[in-house]
Amino acid sequence: MSLDRPIDSCFTTNDAESTLRIGHLLAQVLAPGDVVTLSGELGSGKTCLVQGICRGLCVIDDVTSPTYTLVNEYRGDIPVYHFDLYRLEDEISVLDLGFEEYIDGRGVCLVEWADKFPFILPDTRIDVAIEMLDESKRIIRIIEV
Ligand SMILES: Nc1ncnc2c1ncn2[C@@H]1O[C@H](COP(=O)(O)OP(=O)(O)OP(=O)(O)O)[C@@H](O)[C@H]1O
Ligand SMILES: [Mg+2]
Repeated sequence: MSLDRPIDSCFTTNDAESTLRIGHLLAQVLAPGDVVTLSGELGSGKTCLVQGICRGLCVIDDVTSPTYTLVNEYRGDIPVYHFDLYRLEDEISVLDLGFEEYIDGRGVCLVEWADKFPFILPDTRIDVAIEMLDESKRIIRIIEV
């Protein structure tokens, strides 16, 4: 399995390990400056996919949901900035995190719940939408816009 850019792909996974593998696959085509948004309901697997991307980028740090810290920075082949915007109320709070500086930075930005704040997202990005079909089945759509 491989991905070509621009990405326009859809996958079905039946367990978390398969979603990790999709993340790993996506990592192979990421470069510094890329922004990946992840949308999908609570528990759909956004963090799981991020863990797969990080595995693919040889991140050595623990990859956990930054629900309280809002942004985690990991060291891998390239820097990885992992956001979780779930708890933020408005665009100003996101910008206060230094969001634009991260976006313009030398790493890859992975942004859970980015769809809450469409107006501050860069025009060029990779959108990942995870649909939860049941306890373990997910549809993962990856589109480069
Ligand atoms: N096919 C699958 N893909 C991903 N996760 C799965 C799958 N099947 C079951 N799971 C389980 O679903 C959960 C997904 O949790 P995860 O934290 O990745 O979701 P999330 O979308 O980041 O949630 P949140 O919105 O709270 O941040 C995990 O417990 C995982 O084991
Ligand atoms: Mg999460």
